[in-house]
Amino acid sequence: MTEARNRIVSGKASDEDARIEASVRPASFSDYIGQERVKENLQISVEAARARGEALDHVLLYGPPGLGKTTLAQILANEMGSSIKISSGPLLEKKGDLTAVLTSLDPGDFLFLDEIHRLQPALEEILYPAMEDFRIDLVIGQGPGARIHPYQLNQFTLVGATTRAGLLMAPLRSRFGIVHRLDFYTPQDLFQIVQRSARILGIAIDDAGAEEIARRSRGTPRVANRLLRRVRDFAEVRADGHVTKDVAREALAMLGVDEHGLDEVDRNLLLTIINKYSGGPVGLNTIAASLSEEEDAIEEMYEPYLMQLGLLDRTQRGRVATALAYKHFGMDEPHKQPPLFRTASSEE
Ligand code: ADE
Repeated sequence: MTEARNRIVSGKASDEDARIEASVRPASFSDYIGQERVKENLQISVEAARARGEALDHVLLYGPPGLGKTTLAQILANEMGSSIKISSGPLLEKKGDLTAVLTSLDPGDFLFLDEIHRLQPALEEILYPAMEDFRIDLVIGQGPGARIHPYQLNQFTLVGATTRAGLLMAPLRSRFGIVHRLDFYTPQDLFQIVQRSARILGIAIDDAGAEEIARRSRGTPRVANRLLRRVRDFAEVRADGHVTKDVAREALAMLGVDEHGLDEVDRNLLLTIINKYSGGPVGLNTIAASLSEEEDAIEEMYEPYLMQLGLLDRTQRGRVATALAYKHFGMDEPHKQPPLFRTASSEE
């Protein structure tokens, strides 16, 4: 099975990504490139909360991985002059884990919960009164003698992040006052991000080199920063250390990343639908089994970008390779057979 984190164009963060991201991560709105609409709305929310001397309302950020949800949470905390604690749905296993985090928050602190859609239902219930009234109900004792003690928490701001807003329960979702979706970045934004990261990391790169990396980064800063590091390696070993257009093109070709930022797995996914299932529609589970990939990974990481490029459609009956996908591979789209028998309604 292809481990999603090891893909060169994966949105998921590896340990190396996390380390480097921390060093290039913008600390304020003024350093943050792209997501203009979200940024402007958040800036207004921050300014208003500060003027009222209140904690910022709870924030839900959703969208594909690698687009800067953690970064935005940290910027929000910085701009509010607050500290931030970071955890995630899968990390919090028992009720006590979440209770310990919540009771450790100082007034005005931020709590960032990544992958909040993977929080256990029992823990989600603890969050409801915590978010609404800054209260948790501690259960003391067991069985018939158990008693509930309300415990007052300090005011805090929860920033929840998810790649799957659709999986969030309505009661949790409705408790976020501020909800924003992050979209893929434009090549122009990514060009600036690559230049900024190269400056911070001391990488020599010209405009055409940065443009080449930006264009193939599937709209994702994490991918752009990762490709930048791999292209730098290539430049140091096979060239004079400078990242030019030619160096970037050669390095990316060696990494198997094509003109549109697609890698081997993306191509296999589309070719499976085209060659094995006549272009679809075909179910997600069938594709996952054919590719030996996790359904979640396909849905969260591969498909959003393929759909954004117009190469894949999700329909009620399954996944379909578009006319553009056939064109991408230089193939002719098959003639779909008209139905053998016409029904009364199709006569009109
Ligand atoms: N590095 C990663 N994402 C970034 C962004 N949105 N702006 C600036 N630098 C970044």
